[in-house]
Amino acid sequence: MHYPVLAAEAIEYLAIRPDGIYIDATSGLGGHTAEIARRLESGRVIAADRDAESLEMSKRNTAEWSDRIRFVQSNFSELAARVSETETGRVNGLLADLGVSRYQLTEPSRGFSILADGPLDMRMDRNQRLTAADLVNFTAEKAIADLIFKYGEERRARRIARAIVRARPIRSTRHLADVVERAVPRTGPLHPATRTFMAIRMAVNEEQRELDRLLESVPELVAAGGRVVIISFMSLEDRKVKESFRALAHAGRAELLTKKPVTPSDDEIRNNPPSRSAKLRAAAMV
Ligand SMILES: C[S@@+](CC[C@H](N)C(=O)[O-])C[C@H]1O[C@@H](n2cnc3c(N)ncnc32)[C@H](O)[C@@H]1O
Repeated sequence: MHYPVLAAEAIEYLAIRPDGIYIDATSGLGGHTAEIARRLESGRVIAADRDAESLEMSKRNTAEWSDRIRFVQSNFSELAARVSETETGRVNGLLADLGVSRYQLTEPSRGFSILADGPLDMRMDRNQRLTAADLVNFTAEKAIADLIFKYGEERRARRIARAIVRARPIRSTRHLADVVERAVPRTGPLHPATRTFMAIRMAVNEEQRELDRLLESVPELVAAGGRVVIISFMSLEDRKVKESFRALAHAGRAELLTKKPVTPSDDEIRNNPPSRSAKLRAAAMV
């Protein structure tokens, strides 16, 4: 069972018009794409994702509404260009549900998983050249420490980076998880390598830069009166979304619809524990 995070809230803030054109910039397994598509009549959804395998899964999971969905493999930085090829003009709403999907996190062959062994990959788009193995094995110790500290908000980053450099070459997720676990003791319920894995994933996929590009392209993508809804899972990302929406509002280009971020209900967290850190912010373009 797949639960799209904050689905009811995302749909409410998108204020779907049956004849509207929408972009789901992170189609993933198609959960939100389906929720949008089923509310359309003559309208359309452009379902984008940088991960070709996820797009295939999204296609299968949304087959019932295939006449209303157009799939586009694209990362955020190319989205405006790719959408303009579809000749839709500016859209009535854009949704982005950031980060990685359950499928990516749990499929060992994708190399994101701490628990199951797999190649140290972590590329969302497998056409990209840089893998997690390249980053871990060929980056200077200080740069590794910095990125684990910055993206993973991991206080023990220096010790972890030193252990990684000593253990090179590291080829598998299990090997990396073990190296980190030997370097830093477990302090809570989380695996001690959780923050390190997250940081490496964010660096491999340039997630911060990609989010900046997406936020910059909002005025180009979304028409006046259209809605922008972004769900993030990390404070670094939520801060970027908040600041970008505020800047648009100051410039008179958008109206904030959420003064504080919207978070999942207790019920949703019970049914889908990974939703617990989700924060949704919405704006209307003017
Ligand atoms: C949390 S999942 C989305 C789940 C989806 N909303 C659903 O209901 O199934 C995030 C998705 O965004 C994609 N993604 C992350 N960063 C991206 C980027 N910069 N450009 C395009 N897609 C991206 C990932 O490949 C992943 O499939």
